[in-house]
Amino acid sequence: MPSDIDDLRRELDIVDVISEYINLQRVGSNYRANCPFHPDRTPSFYVSPSRQIFKCFGCGVGGDAIKFVSLYENLSYIEAAKHLARRYGISLRIKGEKEGPKEVYDALEAVSQFYHKKLKESREPLEYLKSRGIDNSSVRRFNLGYSPSSQELVEFLKRLGLLKDYEKTGNLVRFSDGAYRDLFRNRLIIPIRDARGRVVGFGGRILQGEGPKYVNSPDSDIFKKRELLFGLYEGLAYLKDLKTAIVVEGYFDVIALHQEGFRNAVATLGTSFGRDHALQLSKFVEKVFLVFDGDSAGRKALRLAVPHLLKAGLEVYPLYLPEGTDPHDFIFSRGKEAFRRLLDNSRSLFEQLLYRIREGVNPEEAIRDFTYFVSFLKDEVEAYSLLAQLSKLTKIPVDVLASKMYRREEPSVEEEDPRVSFTEKLFLKGLFELRPEINIEELNLSSKAYELAKSILAEEYYHIPEEILNLKVDDLETAFWSSVDKLRIDIPEEELKAQTASVREFVREAMRNHRGGIKPASARRWRGKLES
Ligand code: CTP
Ligand code: MN
Repeated sequence: MPSDIDDLRRELDIVDVISEYINLQRVGSNYRANCPFHPDRTPSFYVSPSRQIFKCFGCGVGGDAIKFVSLYENLSYIEAAKHLARRYGISLRIKGEKEGPKEVYDALEAVSQFYHKKLKESREPLEYLKSRGIDNSSVRRFNLGYSPSSQELVEFLKRLGLLKDYEKTGNLVRFSDGAYRDLFRNRLIIPIRDARGRVVGFGGRILQGEGPKYVNSPDSDIFKKRELLFGLYEGLAYLKDLKTAIVVEGYFDVIALHQEGFRNAVATLGTSFGRDHALQLSKFVEKVFLVFDGDSAGRKALRLAVPHLLKAGLEVYPLYLPEGTDPHDFIFSRGKEAFRRLLDNSRSLFEQLLYRIREGVNPEEAIRDFTYFVSFLKDEVEAYSLLAQLSKLTKIPVDVLASKMYRREEPSVEEEDPRVSFTEKLFLKGLFELRPEINIEELNLSSKAYELAKSILAEEYYHIPEEILNLKVDDLETAFWSSVDKLRIDIPEEELKAQTASVREFVREAMRNHRGGIKPASARRWRGKLES
């Protein structure tokens, strides 16, 4: 029997819910924190577990757990309720709303079976898989597939009466002449399931010819890349059992690791690892191995992913493979024992940094990383004890180290930030990815974009909106430099007017006052310039 909103409210524990977002400190029978909804230096935000409400005595906001999420995530009350229901696996029925899109799930499952059947009949993709070491057990485990033709798929869906429902996924594009095109045609299909095992979308790898290496289902209500992890459902029992996850980058990495016995491997769907991924993992595991190939890209990914993992209360074990080797390559060239040894011999993030400082391997950078990461720890006692260790090692007083911690407001999770223009988004994306030589002071950036640019330069990636991180740009290099050109000349009109007006005022003043420092002749030259 699905719950309604009242049932949901009864099932939720407000302390649990709010603790996922902010650190709560116990005071007697209540909890308190700095209020996340206004700048708050003294904790004026209180949570009462007995009454299941929160209240801020600073800014006055208050309400139940759902209200908190609606404020925090910037969602309507109903949307927040749905969000929480999903988060805690409660099936929610909103009065007056139709049953969920069951037909869409059915269609996705059916299409996945269709692709799977086609794969078994198609030589080329089977040979491709074989050439990459992927065997039949993996084909079955992940229900891999192949899309031979758009036409066949459409006919299949018509026969089942599911065509219209399937169109809602955006996986099938309909042209004005009525023809359909399967986004994944001629591609190897990787079905993606949510944590409950339902197929929610696909990734499709190109086998040959022109086009992007992967195509993924577009985001929708049921397919949200920011929350989904490939391999999570297939490995769920292992994640829960081992209390550990191995986070890798690609579909093939997950498939290869599962095949070789590391069935707790998961990957994002080509997007950056964010807060929702971390929260998702924290439901099942305590510890996360983050696997990177090489150092340069790894450092970026580390500073991007780790804050979210730490905030979710997870222990982080970074793991570096030889430059240019991904886990899929590694496991087939070096074998699973070698990979096992890597896992077994790895140290935690903070141990690695302390080790680097002790050994003098780029110690300044390690200290900087250390204080940055410590600031995201959920447990303040742990943070303090780590800072104490760092202090002992470096002889830098703890309070000096603590003052270097990263303390900023929470990033907003809004999809669109109207304060950052598209040109600025391209610029920020390029600044993040390419790290070009550029002086941001010479550009006309909005204050929000300027602040983000500064964060990027300081390698504080925590605040960069996912929307920018996951922006898809074909030729980023070109797009970036053309954004720079635009930002150089695009002085906002009001500002230009204001500047012109003040020069004009100055000239007028000088003309009126001959004995002043400026002669009428030069003033006239000024005016000539202004008017040309
Ligand atoms: N990806 C994507 N779109 C692309 C390229 C990559 O969505 N055009 C995503 C996919 O989820 C992919 C991941 O980024 O799995 C990592 O990319 P890459 O390392 O290039 O792919 P692999 O999965 O390792 O695939 P392969 O081994 O076949 O190169
Ligand atoms: Mn690969």
